[in-house]
Amino acid sequence: MTDRPFLSINPATRRVSLDARDPAFYSDPNGTYAALHATCPTFYWEEQKAWFFTGYDHVNALLRDRRFGRQILHVASREELGMAEPDAHTTHFDRAELHSLLELEPPEHTRLRTLVNRAFVSRSIEKMTPEIEILTNQLIDRFEAKAETELLASFADIIPVTMIARMIGIPEEMGPQLLKWSHDYVGMYMFKRTRADEDAADRSAKEFAEYVRQMIAERRATPQDDLLSHMIHTEHKGQYLTEDELISTAIVLLNAGHEATVHQIGNSVRMILESGLDPADLFHDAKATERTVEETLRICAPVHIFQRYCIEPCEIDGISLKRGDKVSLILAAANLDPAKFTDPLVFKPAREEGANLSFGAGIHFCIGAPLARLELNIALPLLFKRLPGLKIAAQPVVKDVYHFHGLERLDLRW
Ligand code: HEM
Repeated sequence: MTDRPFLSINPATRRVSLDARDPAFYSDPNGTYAALHATCPTFYWEEQKAWFFTGYDHVNALLRDRRFGRQILHVASREELGMAEPDAHTTHFDRAELHSLLELEPPEHTRLRTLVNRAFVSRSIEKMTPEIEILTNQLIDRFEAKAETELLASFADIIPVTMIARMIGIPEEMGPQLLKWSHDYVGMYMFKRTRADEDAADRSAKEFAEYVRQMIAERRATPQDDLLSHMIHTEHKGQYLTEDELISTAIVLLNAGHEATVHQIGNSVRMILESGLDPADLFHDAKATERTVEETLRICAPVHIFQRYCIEPCEIDGISLKRGDKVSLILAAANLDPAKFTDPLVFKPAREEGANLSFGAGIHFCIGAPLARLELNIALPLLFKRLPGLKIAAQPVVKDVYHFHGLERLDLRW
């Protein structure tokens, strides 16, 4: 048992009851992860009805283990697995997910990933440096004289969506609409989502797909120098992406391409300001900046959990898994494993203890990691350099969107 009312741990049976909607939990999940590491790092989460792994070595190995996949229906039917039929009220969402990179396994995954990968490798992404610097400075220009701002709306929300929209070739004026579609869409990944969340996600998936379909028609007629045109006209082993594959890929890039980075900008600024460390030291050169960014990714990651299906029966940490079982990997908890990181709950950019798992590992390793890292490595130091004396003006409130972790607002003054 623990002194946290929302959490009960039974180390003997490895069963845990945890209320993911309790603000005391999702506001500070790191404390709970530490309690799990101390007593029960692999556990059956009663409310989620699945096994969860928090150990660094287990999570790292499972992400790379080909006996596990993001998909299961490529090797077995719903009937064989006793899986329910898909819901009728989420058909548009399911259709968009059908060809999402995140939901595929080889060979489809390899084909799709190869087609988009070139645009996302570091040397292509680095060319965006001047654009990200200009955008960051323009945003700070807008609020610098006011001596206060709410950072999510004025800064964090804008940079990632603008950059990914430009890359794909979607007009920037669509930014606010893309944010709305994307917020609704990712509601489907939340624990304890409601029917209203599902209806909103489905409606947005439909509108989003219709919009992308229209963009594809325009780019087919008049190709531009953008990722959408590139995806339409590039072939892999004689094959082109189908219309549905193009739509799914554009949607996943737009959603994944900003949601996590928005949260991470807010989480990082909060962590740095609350750490009491001097931003001038944390960002004194490119190397220091990189370490600071990686340490924030380790200690306050924006996306906490990814799941896998067991494809081949096997045993992991004494747990027998059969084909079709779902396992959940808590990346944010693996980043706090005391067997890997000393004083794991302490923000220490100088640590040299290996990579965090916030971008995953293996074949699904985040394709956008070079872009997200570049945005964070440019936006954070510029913000602290331009606004010396930055302070938190009101207690930050964490959003009720577990298993994401991000702020509702971040009110700052200087
Ligand atoms: C701080 C920001 C970000 C974090 C923490 C993050 C995290 C992750 C993680 C953990 C995965 C692996 C999921 C799994 O193994 O099941 C992933 C996959 C992915 N991410 Fe990111 N991401 C971020 C930003 C981005 C950006 C900027 C983009 C796009 C431009 C992006 C696009 C994707 C895509 C398309 C995948 C699927 C890759 C595949 O399945 O092959 N992400 N991300």
